[in-house]
Amino acid sequence: MAIPSVRKGSSLKDRLEARLAAALVAAGAPEGTPAIVQPATRAGFGDYQANGAMGAAKRMQRNPRELAQAALAAAALDDMVSHAEIAGPGFINLTLSDACLAAELEAFAANVIAPQPVTEAAAPVVVDYSSPNLAKEMHVGHLRSTIIGDAMARVLEHTGHAVLRQNHVGDWGTQFGMLLTFMAELASDPDKVPDKQPDEHKVALEHELADIETFYRNAKERFDADAAFAQRARDTVVRLQAGDADCLARWQQFIDISMRHCEAVYSRLGVGLDRSHVHAESAYNDDLPAVVDDLEAAGLLVESEGARCVFLDEFKGKDDQPLPLIIQKRDGGYLYATTDLAAIRYRCGQLGAERILYFVDNRQTLHFRQVFAVARAAGFAPAHVELEHMPFGTMLGEDGRPFRTRAGGVIRLTDLLDEAEERAFALVSEKNPELDETERREIARVVGIGAVKYADLSKHRNSDYVFAWDSMLSFDGNTAPYLQYAYSRVQSLFRRAEVDPAAFDAPISLQAEAERTLALQLLRLPETLATVARDGVPHLLCSHLFDIAVAFMAFYEQCPVLSAADTATRESRLALAQRTSAALHTGLGLLGIGIVERM
Ligand code: ARG
Repeated sequence: MAIPSVRKGSSLKDRLEARLAAALVAAGAPEGTPAIVQPATRAGFGDYQANGAMGAAKRMQRNPRELAQAALAAAALDDMVSHAEIAGPGFINLTLSDACLAAELEAFAANVIAPQPVTEAAAPVVVDYSSPNLAKEMHVGHLRSTIIGDAMARVLEHTGHAVLRQNHVGDWGTQFGMLLTFMAELASDPDKVPDKQPDEHKVALEHELADIETFYRNAKERFDADAAFAQRARDTVVRLQAGDADCLARWQQFIDISMRHCEAVYSRLGVGLDRSHVHAESAYNDDLPAVVDDLEAAGLLVESEGARCVFLDEFKGKDDQPLPLIIQKRDGGYLYATTDLAAIRYRCGQLGAERILYFVDNRQTLHFRQVFAVARAAGFAPAHVELEHMPFGTMLGEDGRPFRTRAGGVIRLTDLLDEAEERAFALVSEKNPELDETERREIARVVGIGAVKYADLSKHRNSDYVFAWDSMLSFDGNTAPYLQYAYSRVQSLFRRAEVDPAAFDAPISLQAEAERTLALQLLRLPETLATVARDGVPHLLCSHLFDIAVAFMAFYEQCPVLSAADTATRESRLALAQRTSAALHTGLGLLGIGIVERM
């Protein structure tokens, strides 16, 4: 699938691709023939291989090795490649020259680290993430969406896209009748809230809502136990939806408190979402009748058992029965899907999006397939706009079951993050007893929160993943603490050398194998970022940073830096370390993982 919104950077791979593709055409292949350049699949095959000659030769009924040879000659890659050969049925294996690697490393800040400029005419990419329901406390399901979506928004921005973050919070619907009624009851209950001044009421309410989960549970209990309460709750929904000022004020108050709970989590996580990114479900209320009209006008609406639905041929349920997408209930109420259609209409129509990404768990896959299909059929999303559900699996406990408290309750995110920091504090204190407590607390915060985020980011998002404290906090393996530690090692090297890495530069010459391996890993970062931006797979950035850290550790062991034989070597190695520091700094920053200078 061609993705128009992914712009080509100037990675080594892209440059080899462009030159070899042009060379294939020069050698007689049809215009537009791709060179299909990839990292070499095996050591000994060089650094990259180009596979495009074989398919092209087959279509042209030519000898593939000859075509590959002709393309290689036409490409004149001597400035980049020290060794090239045609292998097997027509692969082109390429080994980059050390001079090319060194030259690339000189331009590292501009070519690898700096964000790509946003193309002026670029249409925005909408990233829908976090999007909790405000009736309840934000839970672990939203943790994954928040962490993965945030990293993706950063990577997209870094790779030259205009990004619009959309926090599609659930702030509307029947539960609010129950919650508002319960709120009103508390406010008039003299035992709970004695006759108070308005701002004292506010304080009391904040107190009641300090734990939204419990508040919700208590309200639900009242609702289930007392028919009169339930009736009042239903009346409240009607009044709320009709715009009753009193109900709206109470609703606003509730939403505001609940939103602040989410913001507290965002801020602890270092997630860049604020009120300006909130475009709540209720913001689409006024659009919903128009959505229905548009669907009607497009001839898509069918009445079924009093409800208005869209049936599309490609969706069949059990026994091949047509599967409806319900747009409006018999009583006139709208549904989750209706709001999502309104959101697509707004994002394409008003925001001018060219790509809309949804970071939502995989249980909503059918919902999005249906909503996207209906949005296309109704013309809300023109064909050039990509709609992509980026699903993710469930967070599991170490028992392999969905992550819950021992008592089977929902885990509060604040408790989870507290525990992460506590555990990290114990580890940091064990490792660095000499540091004072304030510094150990700060390191523990960065390591603890980083570990939780990284554990999530480093697994392929499609799979379920087991939340396990010991492995995520381990200083060995593909973990945040390992990468943070690697970064701090590089920084400590600079402290001992008494140079400021931000200001340091020197000519680089690659001598040892470990230097070359590290250099190549560093220079591949833009390739990885392009893939992450295209496919929504931040785990690839994690494993790439891990590869860089491993390559650095090997280099550091094998190649003396401060005690190098001569000044030129010492400076070249410091410059390589400086590139490593910049790559880890940038890469972890894109993942939203913090760093510390020493640990
Ligand atoms: N609030 C929803 C939930 O908690 C997620 C919303 C995701 N975004 C969307 N546009 N539907 O399940």
